[in-house]
Amino acid sequence: MYLEPEEEKILDGEFGQGKALALKAVVKVGEALGAERLVRIKHAHVSGVSYKNIGDEGLEFLEELARSGARVSVPATMNPGGFDTALWPYMRVSADFIEKQNRIIKALSEIGVRPTLTCTPYLYEKVSYGDHIAWSESNAVLYANSVIGARTNRDGGPLALLEAISGRAPLAGLHLESNRRPQLIIDFGEVGSLVAERGLYHVAGLVVGRTAGDRVPLVRGLPLRRENVPEIKLFLAAVGAAGGTGLVLIEGISPERYEARDLERVPVDAKSLYETLEEYQGGLTESAVVVLGCPHLSLEEVMDVVSFFSDRGPARRRVILYTSREVYEAISGHVEKLRAKNLYVFADTCMVVSPLSMYAGREVVTDSGKAAFYLKAQGYKVVLKSRREALEYAAGGGE
Ligand code: F3S
Repeated sequence: MYLEPEEEKILDGEFGQGKALALKAVVKVGEALGAERLVRIKHAHVSGVSYKNIGDEGLEFLEELARSGARVSVPATMNPGGFDTALWPYMRVSADFIEKQNRIIKALSEIGVRPTLTCTPYLYEKVSYGDHIAWSESNAVLYANSVIGARTNRDGGPLALLEAISGRAPLAGLHLESNRRPQLIIDFGEVGSLVAERGLYHVAGLVVGRTAGDRVPLVRGLPLRRENVPEIKLFLAAVGAAGGTGLVLIEGISPERYEARDLERVPVDAKSLYETLEEYQGGLTESAVVVLGCPHLSLEEVMDVVSFFSDRGPARRRVILYTSREVYEAISGHVEKLRAKNLYVFADTCMVVSPLSMYAGREVVTDSGKAAFYLKAQGYKVVLKSRREALEYAAGGGE
């Protein structure tokens, strides 16, 4: 692989052992991917933060890296951890879990990763069309590539961290224009209005993820506009859960230029949407809890939920909202009033990476295809609804 003179110096340890080790690992990955050279990145987003996911091995890796003196070379942010760093007593997490989660956040912070603890960096960070970045949270990767037109692979958490330290990523995969072309067309033309009317973007995402696998799909016929950020978030997060692709070209949204000639075309019909929805239905008891915020809710989305309940009494079923610390601070004046309405807001974590059963039981309703996918895999009873249906269910509607 071709290395710039500065990269050779980094490898020789002129910028410290931590950076040298990080670059060495990035070069190895690049060689495995067949990259001819590296590309400088502008930002990194590191997943694999929850102790629930990375365990003792991950914790030790991060602490060792921090001790080695490795520090990030570019702005870097952190995905959610295992609990709300302020409201952890509500989450009934064990003392051991708290201690180890705090050590993970401390080690990453020492390395220079900002403890933003949100999976929606695209709502807060300055990332633009054409920027090379290293992100490792699938919904964020998909949003960056598909909506912003930034360039990132779907990295694992440790790789994104090593790329943050070295300031470089292998010039391979979705960093290359040639790999950003559509490989098939997934056509919602027949069912676009059904998706919009019934709020089936989560299901549409699951269908696209399964159909595309690792390929870059061109999605046609979804009635989405760039301002439909909540729907786009739910759609792309579900794609990332069900498939391995890091880029979806959404007609009318993605800024990428492409040609779509002679491609396989897969039409989506109502039957396939309803069959997918059917996988997440039925059998809840009164103790089910509504969990929203996968990906983390924006301020507007939280305020929409607040206004839904503003002229209603307390929710009959508990509602838990997950968001960023920044949004939590912005609504902190409402938090007590919301609790009186049976609405709870948590920051820094989410329903998937926190020990949900400890504070919410094992039956949930969600509007997120991604949360439904992972919670079902963790053994939860999950019902997938549109956000509107989930809120009506919480307010007192039947199943
Ligand atoms: Fe975010 Fe957790 Fe979902 S990290 S995308 S809310 S699984």
